[in-house]
Amino acid sequence: MNPTTIIIFGASGDLTRRKLIPALYNLYLQGKLHPQTQIVGFARRPYESKTFCDQLLEGMQEFGAAEYDPEVWKTFSANISYLPGDLTNLQDFHKLAEFLPRVEPLPANRLFYLAIAPQFYDITIKHLGEAGLATEAPEGPWRHIVVEKPFGRDLASARALNQLIHRVFDERQVYRIDHYLGKETAQNILFFRFANAIFEPIWNRRYVDNVQITVAESVDIGHRAGYYDRAGVLRDMFQNHLMQLLCLVAMEPPASFDADAVRNEKMKVLRSVRPIAFEDTVAAQYEGYRQSEGVSPDSRTPTYAALKLYIDNWRWKGVPFYLRSGKALKRKSSEIIIEFQKPPHLMFGLTDASEFSPNVLSLCIQPDEGIHLKFQAKTPGSEADMQPVNMEFHYSSAFGSAPLPDAYVRLLAEALEGDPSLFTRSDNIETAWEIIDPVISYWEDPANPPLATYARGSWGPAEADLLLAQSDRRWRTGCGTHKSGLTFKV
Ligand code: BG6
Repeated sequence: MNPTTIIIFGASGDLTRRKLIPALYNLYLQGKLHPQTQIVGFARRPYESKTFCDQLLEGMQEFGAAEYDPEVWKTFSANISYLPGDLTNLQDFHKLAEFLPRVEPLPANRLFYLAIAPQFYDITIKHLGEAGLATEAPEGPWRHIVVEKPFGRDLASARALNQLIHRVFDERQVYRIDHYLGKETAQNILFFRFANAIFEPIWNRRYVDNVQITVAESVDIGHRAGYYDRAGVLRDMFQNHLMQLLCLVAMEPPASFDADAVRNEKMKVLRSVRPIAFEDTVAAQYEGYRQSEGVSPDSRTPTYAALKLYIDNWRWKGVPFYLRSGKALKRKSSEIIIEFQKPPHLMFGLTDASEFSPNVLSLCIQPDEGIHLKFQAKTPGSEADMQPVNMEFHYSSAFGSAPLPDAYVRLLAEALEGDPSLFTRSDNIETAWEIIDPVISYWEDPANPPLATYARGSWGPAEADLLLAQSDRRWRTGCGTHKSGLTFKV
């Protein structure tokens, strides 16, 4: 296997210090980086390689402290260099083309990583093409490009970006990041569904009452107003992370675990999503959002959204999928709830049938990663009382308490191996935009109803509860909060 040179554009930025270098160091520590891997930083600041490495070391000590070992860092960082350059200047890309063979020991693969602001994607891709950096010689080493989110800000801009990329790179060379796909628990959804025989037969409209996908965050927008007030939760979370989770939970079994087999099945899900009715959507801001520094005082940017959608295919026809995500909520929790139908006939006397609690399967993405199943048990000593209890699987008890690998470790490993399975294909991105775009436009339009508000530290606005209450349902939080007396740990 050829070694790979990783060229990071935007190398002096936060993502590089916080995520990329700790992830690459982690791979190095595990022996998963080719020993001759080179890392080349490219950014405007006029650093020497030594200053650049010192900056990275600070980041490493802060964000990768648990694994930091000065001796290992010394050998790892010996392969890091820095080239100052301006993304808007083609000459600097020619300089890069001359610089790379000087640090590469052999003909090497090259992984270009765009850790830059999205307004520079176009020019960087164009310049990579014009400097000949994207071209692969026949039988020669590969050239791949990793593109961070946000990928466009609507369908039209995502399409234009894909077209530009395809003028320079083939689709097989392009790795679009959605870090949710790198999360262990997101990957486990497919293993849970398709490596077990007992769940798939009930994973459909005949047994499932509704599906809920929650990605709640307790943090607010912090210092990101400049980005966030132009994006909002629908662009920031729904178009990418929530749509990807939806695909994983709703897709048909692919014939193989091959990247395109999986991505083809995801496409079928997205193509089957019925256009979302605006009355099935809620958009809201947390109290005080408009007063935050950098936020427009009449901003219509939602920090929270909830919606109901339907997947019009044989498996899911008529089953509502409820999606919600927001900032400044009660706690950080990403989970998928599969709520099953109630038994067709209950022979046990219940004073209040509405009290009956259906089976709920919770896929806990984070934190306290695991899977919980709620079912009814007879209350010991009673004649006919029952109580919901939980069967729980926690990663920490099954696999040890070491933290799960960071998504970037997995994603970088896959990109270095040339496996695009965990990256989003162009048609996938565009179809996800097609689904979310009309909802964004609806809520951005001042002619439409005002956004709701919600208290910080709550679970969101009352309107979102109403979305479910109108069909006698409610949002469920199956992970982390069990009130039932009996818990079976597995
Ligand atoms: C990012 C969003 O993609 O995902 C952030 O831009 C958000 O706004 C983050 O906070 C959430 O990721 P995670 O892994 O913390 O759930």
